[in-house]
Amino acid sequence: MSRNTSKHRIAINGYGRIGQSVLRALYTSPQHHSDLQVVAINELSDIDTLTYLTRYDTTHGRFPVAVQNDGSHMLVNGDRIRTLNEELPEHLPWKELDIDLVLECTGTYTDRATAERHLASGARRLLFSQPADADIDATIVHGFNSGQLQPQHQIVSSASCTTNCIVPVLDLLDRRFGIENGVSTTIHSAMNDQPVIDSYHHTDLRLTRSALQSMVPVETGLSQGIGKMMPHLRGRIECLHLRVPTINVSLMDLALNLRKPTDPQSVNAIFRQAAEGPLQGLLGYTEEPHASIDFNTDPRSAIVDGTQTRVSAGKLIKLMVWFDNEWSYANRMLDVAQAWLELGGTDSPPEES
Ligand SMILES: NC(=O)c1ccc[n+]([C@@H]2O[C@H](COP(=O)([O-])OP(=O)(O)OC[C@H]3O[C@@H](n4cnc5c(N)ncnc54)[C@H](OP(=O)(O)O)[C@@H]3O)[C@@H](O)[C@H]2O)c1
Repeated sequence: MSRNTSKHRIAINGYGRIGQSVLRALYTSPQHHSDLQVVAINELSDIDTLTYLTRYDTTHGRFPVAVQNDGSHMLVNGDRIRTLNEELPEHLPWKELDIDLVLECTGTYTDRATAERHLASGARRLLFSQPADADIDATIVHGFNSGQLQPQHQIVSSASCTTNCIVPVLDLLDRRFGIENGVSTTIHSAMNDQPVIDSYHHTDLRLTRSALQSMVPVETGLSQGIGKMMPHLRGRIECLHLRVPTINVSLMDLALNLRKPTDPQSVNAIFRQAAEGPLQGLLGYTEEPHASIDFNTDPRSAIVDGTQTRVSAGKLIKLMVWFDNEWSYANRMLDVAQAWLELGGTDSPPEES
C-alpha cells in the first residue's frame, strides 16, 4: 500500500474503553497529535457495532465528528479506517496496511512473544496499553522518562493509568522533601473485567461480584510500576486498589512519610507551581470543591486536590489526586506514540525474509 499522507499510520488492536478513547482523543485534540492517523481497527465485533460505539458513548458523550461505514471501512470525518475482525495477530494485514505502530489495547497479553507476532505481520512497532513483561524494550510514563525512548525500540508499554498518575506526584515530593516510604489506595471506577451482576471470572474471586453493588478490592501491580520508574523507591510504597460503582474517573489516596518536615501550604505550592509551569497539561492543581465527575474527559494524568492535603506531625502527609482513568491514559498513549514515532528509525517496512 502506498502512503498518501506524511502522517504516521496507526492501528488500534482491541476497540474497548481505551481503544475507543484513543480514537476520540485523536479527533478531539488533533493539535497535540497531528502527525498520527488511525488507519485500522481490529476488534472482535461487527462494523455496525463499532460505528455505533464510536458515535455514542455513555461516559464521554456523543462524538462531535461524523461517523459512518461502507461495510469494510469506518468513515470518521471523511477518513477511511479499515475494520478487521481477527483474533490472532498473525492474521492481521499490517504489512498490506503499512502500519507504523499498533496500539495494543485488548488487555489480553503482556508478553514480548505475542507482541512480536504483530511485528511478524508487518507492523513496525507496538505500544501496550498496560504494564508488560520485563523483556520489552521500555516502559514509558510520558513527561517522566520519555527521554528513554530509542528509535530502535519496537515493543514499548505506556505503563498503567495509576502509574501515570502517581509518578509525577511522587517525583515532585521526592525531589523537595525526600520520600521515606508510603501507602496508596486507588479508588478506581468500574471496568469491563467486572460483571454487571455476579458471574464467573477465571482468575480473581472478587471479580465475580457485581460492579453495580459493591466496592471491590482487586490486585494491583502499582507498587512494581513505581519501582520500575523510580528504582530507589522499590519496595517502599505499598499499594491497594478498590473498584467502586462509578463508570469513570478515579482517585489516588496517598500517604507518605517524608524525610524533611513540611506543612500543607508548602506541599500544595509545589504542585501549584508545577501545574502552572513545567508539568502544565500533565499535572493539575485545584482548590475547588470537586466531585469525581468534574474530571470526566480530563486529559491530565493527575490533578492534586489541594483542599484534601493534610500533614501530620510535619513528616506524614496525605494527598488526594484525581484522574480520568480512560481519557488521561488514552492521551498519554498518543503522547508516547507521537514522541516515539518522531524519533524515526523504522520508516521503511521490514525486509522480506
Ligand atoms: N479502562 C481503563 O481505565 C484503563 C486505563 C489504563 C489502561 N487500561 C488497560 O487497557 C487494556 C484494555 O482495557 P479496556 O478498559 O479498554 O478493556 P475493554 O473495554 O474490555 O477493551 C478490550 C477490547 O479488546 C477486545 N479484544 C479482546 N481480545 C481481542 C483480540 N484478540 N483481538 C481484537 N480485540 C480483542 C475486547 O473484545 P471482547 O469484549 O469481545 O473480548 C474488548 O472490546 C487493559 O490492559 C487495561 O488494564 C485500561
